[in-house]
Amino acid sequence: MKIVISAGPTREAIDPVRFITNRSTGRMGYAIAQAAHDLHYDVTLVSGPVNIAAPAGVKIVNVESAAEMAAAMKQAAETADVIIMSAAVADYRPRQYSASKIKKNDDDLTIELERTEDILLSLGKTKKTGQILVGFAAETDDLLQNAQSKLERKNLDYIAANIVGVPGRGFGAENNAITLIGRNGFLQELPLKSKLEIAREMLEIILKKP
Ligand code: CTP
Repeated sequence: MKIVISAGPTREAIDPVRFITNRSTGRMGYAIAQAAHDLHYDVTLVSGPVNIAAPAGVKIVNVESAAEMAAAMKQAAETADVIIMSAAVADYRPRQYSASKIKKNDDDLTIELERTEDILLSLGKTKKTGQILVGFAAETDDLLQNAQSKLERKNLDYIAANIVGVPGRGFGAENNAITLIGRNGFLQELPLKSKLEIAREMLEIILKKP
């Protein structure tokens, strides 16, 4: 069984020294990679820029932008049995990249942004028979409704619904609490515990044979 996991933020370059990114540290995705490796699965981790070391024995593909992550995930997905998108992919990137450093002047500056590809949506469209596709939904409001609609819209098998903006869990935190939602009304709360414990319990459910 081959498991492909994405983790971390992406960086969308404005010029050679500046970029747009987010608060993802990659810890949840790295914990899933560790847990999957502990279960002796063949693990590929497609990672945006983070400050943590890859778990030993895991194949790592380092990427920077959403476009690079899309290309790496599509390639790895071709032979994957399970795909878990835990990366916080930027939804927008600067429409224009400036090859020279942008110099300041006295005026305000407007940067126009354009949509990036929704990688999970693309993977849902090309999902092969038997392939298990899992996403994350980071929400500040209406957690379950928003997660459920993402599950359906992106053709997922499971979505890990994650409240963000609450201290002590989610982005950057040691611990996390999620609600795992599946098809046909499946719903399982995984209350606050270490990200490695959450990862183990998630995998136990996702990989359960029918
Ligand atoms: N995702 C992706 N490609 C993107 C954006 C997100 O693959 N360009 C994936 C994330 O890895 C995650 C899920 O989609 O698994 C999150 O869904 P999304 O609809 O983007 O939710 P948010 O990023 O929380 O944004 P919003 O609520 O604004 O839709």
